[in-house]
Formats: sequence, C-alpha cells, structure tokens
Amino acid sequence: MKRLQIKQILSMEEAGSHLTTAGWVRSVRQAQNVSFIDLTDGSSIAGLQVVVEQSTEGSEILDNIHTGCSLMAEGQLVESPGKGQRYELKAGKIKLLGEADPATFPIQKKKHTLEFLRQKAHLRVRTNTFASVFRLRSYLSHGIHDFFQRKGFFYIHTPLITTSDCEGAGEMFQVSAPSEKDFFGRPAYLTVSGQLEAELLALGLSEVYTFGPTFRAENSNTPRHLSEFWMVEPEMAFYDSVDNMDLAEEFLKAILVYMLEHAGEDLQFMERWYQPGLLGQLETIIKKPFERLSYTEAIELLGASGKKFEFPCDWGSDIQTEHERYLTEEKIRGPVIVYDYPAKIKPFYMRLNDDGETVGAMDVLFPRIGEIIGGSQREERLDVLSRRIRKFGLPEESYWWYLDTRRFGTAIHSGFGLGLERTLLFLSGMSNIRDVIPFPRTPGNAEF
Ligand code: 4AD
Ligand code: MG
Repeated sequence: MKRLQIKQILSMEEAGSHLTTAGWVRSVRQAQNVSFIDLTDGSSIAGLQVVVEQSTEGSEILDNIHTGCSLMAEGQLVESPGKGQRYELKAGKIKLLGEADPATFPIQKKKHTLEFLRQKAHLRVRTNTFASVFRLRSYLSHGIHDFFQRKGFFYIHTPLITTSDCEGAGEMFQVSAPSEKDFFGRPAYLTVSGQLEAELLALGLSEVYTFGPTFRAENSNTPRHLSEFWMVEPEMAFYDSVDNMDLAEEFLKAILVYMLEHAGEDLQFMERWYQPGLLGQLETIIKKPFERLSYTEAIELLGASGKKFEFPCDWGSDIQTEHERYLTEEKIRGPVIVYDYPAKIKPFYMRLNDDGETVGAMDVLFPRIGEIIGGSQREERLDVLSRRIRKFGLPEESYWWYLDTRRFGTAIHSGFGLGLERTLLFLSGMSNIRDVIPFPRTPGNAEF
C-alpha cells in the first residue's frame, strides 16, 4: 500500500490528486446517500474527511465502521464544500482493515478522564490529547538534539548499567541475573544519571551531551516523579558555574523557541484544552532573563514571605516543592535559577566553593513544575574530591577511574540534567507526569 500521511495530504498545494491513505476512524456521520468518515493517522490534529457514496467500492461495509476501526481509503482529493476543512477525500474505494466493536472498544468519541485513560495506556494514543502529547515529546526530543548539534556538542551514550552511585541518595534498582547474583562481578544497578561517564568524555571531547533513560527507586508517588524517566545531560570542560547557568538558560529558551516554531498546532491544542495562556507564557519566558538567586538569598525570600510552609526553610534545609512554587509563581513570577547550595545537602561531586560551606550547584525552577534542571560545576581538584568521597562514606577505590581524570590533565568543568518529562509537563500543560510518557513506571505500576 503506497500510503500518504494525512498531514501531507492536508498540506498539499492543490486538490486533484488520486491517492491512498489509511488510519483510524474517529467518527462516522451518515447523511442521505453519503457518509462522512473522520479519519486520523496520528500525524496531525486535523483528520481527513473521507466521503463515501453508494458508488464507492466497499461502501457495503459502512455498517461495520465505528469509532476506532482501521480503514484504508483510496480516491480523489477534492476541495471540500463543507465547513471546517479545506480538502476531503472523495473515496473511490474503502476497505475495513480492523474492526472495533463499539460494545467493547473503550476509547469512544467522548471526553474520558485522564485517570481512566491511564488504565488504558495501550490505547490512549488514539485520543487527540495523547496523540498531541506524544507528538510534542517527539518534537521536543528533536529540538534538544538540534540545540546541541548546532552548538557543536557531541552526542554520547553513557551506560544504563552501572556499579557506582552518582547522586548518592541510595535510590538505585539492583540488576542481577538468574544464574549469578553478581553477574558483573560486583553489585550492579540501573543508572540514576549518566553524569559521571559524561564527565569522562567531556574531559576529552570538551562539550558533550547524553540523552537517555534513567532510573530511580525513590518511593515517591507524586505527580512529578517517575521511576523511569529521560534525562538530557550536557557536560562541558572549561565551563565554570556561571557558564553553566548561562548555558542552561540559553538551552531552555532555545527549546521553547523550537517548540513554538515546530509544534505550534499541538501547543495551541493543549492551550485550548489544558493550559489557558500557554503560548503567551512561553513567549514571556523566552524574552526575559531568568532571575538568579543564591541559595542564601532564596532562603531569605522564603523567610520574609510571611507564608506558613509545611517544610522548614531555614539555612541548610532543602528547598521543597512548595518553596519552589512560591518563588516561581508568587515572588518572581517566572523561572528562577538558585545557585550555591549548602554542601551537605548536595552530592559529593559538586565543586566546593571558597567559603567551604557551599557548592557550585544550580537548579532551574519553573512555574507549575518546580525543579526542571539540576546541575553544578564539578570538583576538579583531586585532593578535595577524594576527601569529599570519603566524607560521604563512599568507597574511594571504586571511583579510581573518576579520580584518574583529576590526576591526569584535570580541568574545570560543569554540567546539568534536564528532566524530559518535567519539561513536557510544562510545555503540554498536563499536570501529572504519568500523562507525558507513554508507559509510565511508578511504584506498583509497570503494566504495559
Ligand atoms: O537534579 P537531578 O537529580 O540531577 C542529576 O541527576 C545530575 N546528575 C544531573 C547532571 O548534573 N548531569 O536530576 C536532574 C533532573 C531534575 O531537575 C528533574 O527535572 C529530573 O531530572 N528528575 C526527575 N524527573 C522525573 N522523575 C524523577 N524521579 C526525577 N528525578 C529527577
Ligand atoms: Mg535535583
């Protein structure tokens, strides 16, 4: 079957061509001697109107055509006399490819709740909402590569199976094999971050990024946490923490620009149904510099807010979601970069500042989302790094390769990680992270 994508068909210069397409039926409307089928193949929000007449070959199957059926249609593309579409397909022939019994097909043409659709994750891509979200996910991934490739960064692949803990928060899934528990000769885990290996490659290729799945066994059932999520991690030699913040800001703005340019239709759809004012919000963020606050300044603002927070916000405690929301939604009303966090609440690899108390960390906080990026300048001094590894109670000998990069040709370097799903939450206006990844993994949930 030489099938044309519906998106291509709808953007044709002129009517007149004879073509074949296929997709799934959204709805069928019967008039006197003619039926109108709204056909979608997922390539665009708009479907193709297929006009079936009694003379259409295969029209006798019309009674079996319901929402959810797959259908092939062949015919002439004509200007549509009806409202709502420029073209329609005057079908010479239709063929039912796969039935969908209206008594049992769960995705009927009505508004289902997102909770209901989560139970039907295998079929929810058939809805306009999820088709849109997963298209946005594809555009976003492309936009991320586009940014780094244009800047001359190299795309690297870091391992998913690891024997060292990067974030040091004890949130790793262990990997074993039926035959041997320690298949790799030592306990092995699914990676929580590709950072440590990205550092090795940055200290040779200078500017690199890794982009792949990461895994965390934290038992937090929140609308912003997944056990398996995708992270983009650029790592740059010769970047200090200000360069790191500058890049993070430039990167986030560039992907918003990319999305406005390449995914406008889907963004408009999400704006209409899920997030009023979405496009305006993206445009505002692109235009203004991000507010930058040291951790100490952020804590002062929280203290002066007069708000009753659930979690403490005195110097030394971690900034929680409620604090992030206050800063981004009430105080600053836009993205905020918080930098120079207390060393004791951040991982071992972050560069110790001269005050001996704080590290060159930075988190980018977004309205509605909270933390979207976490990163830092890395400790490049061998003696300080060794001391920090011991202080965190980590086995120094198993980080020998990491320490070697500080032993031979060490250089200042920095990097960060952007959560793909958090970014997509922001861009789509969805409010639960389970709705922006096709098959979410969360505690107690890995069905599909
Ligand atoms: O702040 P995190 O833990 O940073 C790191 O892993 C660093 N090693 C990254 C680096 O410097 N190369 O995670 C980075 C981002 C967070 O800001 C958040 O957007 C996302 O990853 N993230 C999660 N997204 C979904 N579910 C979770 N459980 C997440 N944990 C972190
Ligand atoms: Mg973080």
